[in-house]
Amino acid sequence: MADALSEFSFPRTGLTVRNRTVLAALTNKQSHEDGVLSQEEHHWLTMRGEGGFGIVTTAAANVTEHGRGWEGELGVWSDHHVPGLSHLASKLSEQGAVSLAQLFHGGMRSPSNLTGVQPVSASENTEPSMKGIVARELTHVEIESIILAFGSAAARCEAAGFSGVELHGAHSYLISQFLGPKTNRRSDQWGGNLQGRTMFLQRIIQEVRAQTSHEFIVGVRLSPTIQDLGIELQETLEVAKWCTDWGLDFIHVSCWDVFQTLPDTNGEETSLTKWFSNHLDGKIPIITTGKIWDGDDVRFAMDQGADLVGVGRAGIAHYDWPQQLSEADASPEKPPFTVEHLKQAGLSDTFVTYMSRWNGFVIPQD
Ligand SMILES: Cc1cc2nc3c(=O)[nH]c(=O)nc-3n(C[C@H](O)[C@H](O)[C@H](O)COP(=O)(O)O)c2cc1C
Repeated sequence: MADALSEFSFPRTGLTVRNRTVLAALTNKQSHEDGVLSQEEHHWLTMRGEGGFGIVTTAAANVTEHGRGWEGELGVWSDHHVPGLSHLASKLSEQGAVSLAQLFHGGMRSPSNLTGVQPVSASENTEPSMKGIVARELTHVEIESIILAFGSAAARCEAAGFSGVELHGAHSYLISQFLGPKTNRRSDQWGGNLQGRTMFLQRIIQEVRAQTSHEFIVGVRLSPTIQDLGIELQETLEVAKWCTDWGLDFIHVSCWDVFQTLPDTNGEETSLTKWFSNHLDGKIPIITTGKIWDGDDVRFAMDQGADLVGVGRAGIAHYDWPQQLSEADASPEKPPFTVEHLKQAGLSDTFVTYMSRWNGFVIPQD
């Protein structure tokens, strides 16, 4: 088992990461109304570059104007986003971090009061957070245009100086809406069996590759299971294996809890990370994320076969989380945190307010 603070090289391109720590994509609501990266967002991310993260990932960023999911979201759908992205990418590179932009489309989770249009999805769908708004089924021509938009967004990120992109295939957004049989009930080439439901992701990968250079890192984030969409572990493992064949550089397993287990065929409880590492058999690097906080958690994740370890909340609270790991028995402070602590960690008022919605993270002020 490698040490989390040892170097890692992506096998396909040889790009070296200074250590195996990853700041996972974290929505922080700090972008401008037109999707341009704000100074606050630049500050919070570059503090993580300074704090020693091997890879720094941006928040989920929408690849089309109408694929936006919430206010304050980062945009990558137009060239007017490039100067802010370039400023960020060049600072992260100067700090020695590998930079990834997370590309996504909200699909049925892009509210019309934000976008001005009816949301779209693989099939006609709705979900509780959309309060009765129904997403309509995408036409073939629209699907092709969203695929192109993923490619152009990746090209924009490469032009801005990013090391690569992470395609957001997790958490019930558009790519997973195509993967899930409950949200994808199409009978054309974009639906049906697993191969058909994965076609959207496959074509996005091909388009991103076509519009970027050989050196550009491209990976995908997947949720092992999503009950509401009908996504099940065995199918996700299969998709991950195909992604390996399609020349991706990493699979990021979004566990939410790396300690969660599911029984294998012999009834042996197996962690989600281990399911993937067993199935992928070292053919592609694995990032795993979910409830990793201290040195023991990191060792557990790597012992399960992760090549790189991602954090969300620990990285929000501790800009220098990787540096803290270098201490023996590293045990960075856990939530709840005072507003003062979070501000010192580089969060703006907007981001702190957003974090107050995450149960038990922020100590309420009187
Ligand atoms: C405030 C917040 C924002 C998040 N935004 C994103 C996002 O934009 N994209 C994404 O893939 N995951 C997002 N996530 C999930 C995290 O990347 C991560 O997987 C999750 O927080 C579990 O890791 P943790 O236990 O280390 O926090 C978000 C999580 C939090 C807490």
